[in-house]
Amino acid sequence: MKQAHTRQDVVRLELPISVGEFASKLLGWYRENKRDLPWRDDPDPYRVWVSEVMLQQTQVKTVFPYFTKFLETYPSLEALARAEENQVLSNWSGLGYYNRARNLRRAAQIVCEQHEGTFPRDYRDALQLPGIGRYTAGAILSIAYQKPLPIVDGNIQRLFTRYLKIEREPNQEVTEGLWQLLSRMVEDPAVTEDVSDFNQALMEMGALICIPRNPRCSSCPLAVSCVALKQGLQTSLPPPRRRKGIRQLHYTVAIAVRGGRYLLRKNLSRRLLAGFWEFPRVLGRPSEQSPRNFRRLHKLDLKVEQEVEIVTHQITFRRMHFHPLLVSLRGPVPKKNFTWAGLANNNYPIPSYVKKIAEILK
Ligand code: ADE
Repeated sequence: MKQAHTRQDVVRLELPISVGEFASKLLGWYRENKRDLPWRDDPDPYRVWVSEVMLQQTQVKTVFPYFTKFLETYPSLEALARAEENQVLSNWSGLGYYNRARNLRRAAQIVCEQHEGTFPRDYRDALQLPGIGRYTAGAILSIAYQKPLPIVDGNIQRLFTRYLKIEREPNQEVTEGLWQLLSRMVEDPAVTEDVSDFNQALMEMGALICIPRNPRCSSCPLAVSCVALKQGLQTSLPPPRRRKGIRQLHYTVAIAVRGGRYLLRKNLSRRLLAGFWEFPRVLGRPSEQSPRNFRRLHKLDLKVEQEVEIVTHQITFRRMHFHPLLVSLRGPVPKKNFTWAGLANNNYPIPSYVKKIAEILK
């Protein structure tokens, strides 16, 4: 509530009630209201790790089926470390942000090489692993090993922005202030003795009660001491962020089918969908120029047979409109980076928009 500056320009934040009281209200609510999530019944470090990485950019309800299937496919950290990258990407297909999957597998190999196959208990060791920042390290170590470490993510930041009525534009000084406040809180015995539930309760509050729009204050265990609520500011805080404009992109996609298999091309870029196998595509809507563009870009000589329904797919702030064309080939297919494959073939990681198009073709 009180916001003074320290010398490092970190905003110093204070709770309006004692940590013990805050923790007792939060934990009481959590025990009554927590969701039954598959990684909660067995907080084994590997399971918690996989769940936290999947949940980094993805909602719980999307993660649910992926988590279960991933653990069936890779039941142990060693199994994941031994897996081919292509296979892991295939099992990640549809979750997006594929570097998470690459880093998870690579980190599993490092854990096998350097930590005897057990996720490290030491915070600094955990932070050395690819794909693990202080939020993920704090979440894994607090949930799996009961280490008193703070976590701050977007949901928790929103909760405290309201609870403490932080009216400043969200910036690094405020975020650091929040990390420091939570670092002090987890040192309090009321939190330390149940830090796993405490951290998960904060996550759960952000997901179920202190939600972005129309927070459910009448069900909130912290409502009595929430400064924003007291002043009627609960819906206007945090101030809405200016949205990055969504880029609209159009692609013409060539679909050649042979004996139930599709012609796929490996994406050689280092950016979006790098390493994935896709239908050959060129930028722009279909036009008379399309065959020439496929010849120039992919060395494919093709004839357009039929246009198919457009498929739209959003990846972060790009909305991609794929215009599929059924084509016949009039010449040989280059040997390098092309293949004929069914879409259930796990040796070729295939992005979900390709599967969406294939569904329409059925
Ligand atoms: N979001 C990030 N981690 C989570 C967890 N362990 N439970 C619920 N939501 C989460």
